[in-house]
Amino acid sequence: MDKIVVTGGGTLNGVIPISGAKNAALPLMISSLLTADPLVLENVPHLADTESLIRILTNHGVGYQVEGKRKGQNGGEGRTIHFTAGEIVDTTAPYELVSKMRASFWVIGPLLARMHEARVSLPGGCAIGTRPVDLFLESLTALGAKLDVEAGYVVATAPGGLKGAGYRFPKVSVGATHVAMMAASLARGQTVLENAAREPEIVDLARCLIAMGARISGAGTSTIVIDGVEALHGARHRVLPDRIETGTYAMAVAMTGGDVLLEGAQPDLLQAALDILVEAGVEIEPTNEGIRVRRNGSGLRPVNVSTAPFPGFPTDLQAQLMALMTRAEGDSRITETIFENRFMHVQELARLGARISLEGQSAIVHGVGHLTGAPVMATDLRASVSLVIAGLVAQGETTVNRVYHLDRGFERLEEKLRNCGARIQRVAA
Ligand code: EPZ
Repeated sequence: MDKIVVTGGGTLNGVIPISGAKNAALPLMISSLLTADPLVLENVPHLADTESLIRILTNHGVGYQVEGKRKGQNGGEGRTIHFTAGEIVDTTAPYELVSKMRASFWVIGPLLARMHEARVSLPGGCAIGTRPVDLFLESLTALGAKLDVEAGYVVATAPGGLKGAGYRFPKVSVGATHVAMMAASLARGQTVLENAAREPEIVDLARCLIAMGARISGAGTSTIVIDGVEALHGARHRVLPDRIETGTYAMAVAMTGGDVLLEGAQPDLLQAALDILVEAGVEIEPTNEGIRVRRNGSGLRPVNVSTAPFPGFPTDLQAQLMALMTRAEGDSRITETIFENRFMHVQELARLGARISLEGQSAIVHGVGHLTGAPVMATDLRASVSLVIAGLVAQGETTVNRVYHLDRGFERLEEKLRNCGARIQRVAA
């Protein structure tokens, strides 16, 4: 299995282009199941997760075609892909495919809405907590679906189709909001979703569904109103920039010092994270081209942060912030409120010399003068990249094993960092 080897030292300077958001692309691709017409998605990131989802969609009968490369475009860059679900040939999403990525469970919404049946394996995904599916089952039941769990599969039917209804999520869930919104788009009558997730990726999906003919208002607030329509049609939609990739590179620059333009990044998608970086002493400047991140020699101040649903500080940047705070001048407190087991990077950061103590859902990060390179490994995508960030300043070589986690969510990571001066390479094992 490939490894990433980072040699610490040096600052980052230059331009990093921000890719399309993985967590927007996945639900957008899934929404292609809702119509027999082509859904054309631009700026789809080329990642292991988008490739896995393509395999799942083709299994249901979705055809896809990648548009030719633009002049000067690198083969790996965000692509325009046509998805056409002319005929759904199979309403089962099998264990072998769904167990690799939790988001593939979300096909249950469109399949139920359009085909009135679905049989979907219970999901897998990153090892960051138990991650149940009760909210999906409850909200789809509210829309009139009949659901059973049989031999590891959720078997769902809606004879005569789904019916609009009011549903209040007892807990904010990004995935369950995506699914309920897609399902309600083709239900009979009005659906009102309360305590819905407000993440930018929900707004992006709603925009795409509206372009496909759905009648949705309120996406981006906690109450979403959906008036079901009989059928949706094709559309063309551009995937929004990846706010987690943006925040990750911002933290990398904050860590090493230097001056980098995050090209195409949108500050409003991650204001809470940018505010924390400013508090820590990093210069953040929104420009017409993106976000400029600078730190010149000054020390990093410790911070006190709790993760929260949008617009709060994202759980998907918690590990990266923790890596950064290992070098702050003092003690930081980082509290994880979304997932109960998302501190697996703590012991790996400790291998590099970090001093972190855990108090329940909080990590107290005691800033240290320096980190030292070592072999490390992570169990999820964001934890893996936090080790790369730490490796950028650790003395000597840091080898990050299990690179497939990084490939799930970061497009051309080594190339983007190398272009700004990082000493980082992939080594085939
Ligand atoms: C999405 O996961 C993201 N994934 C995650 O990013 C992200 O960490 C998470 O939202 C929170 O922001 C994608 O968009 C593909 P949730 P999702 O349902 O939808 C609990 C990454 O690294 N819950 O909002 O699965 C759940 O256990 C990934 O890119 C239930 O209790 O997250 C968690 O504690 C990792 N019952 C909380 O809700 C349910 O039925 C929020 O999870 C569903 C969720």
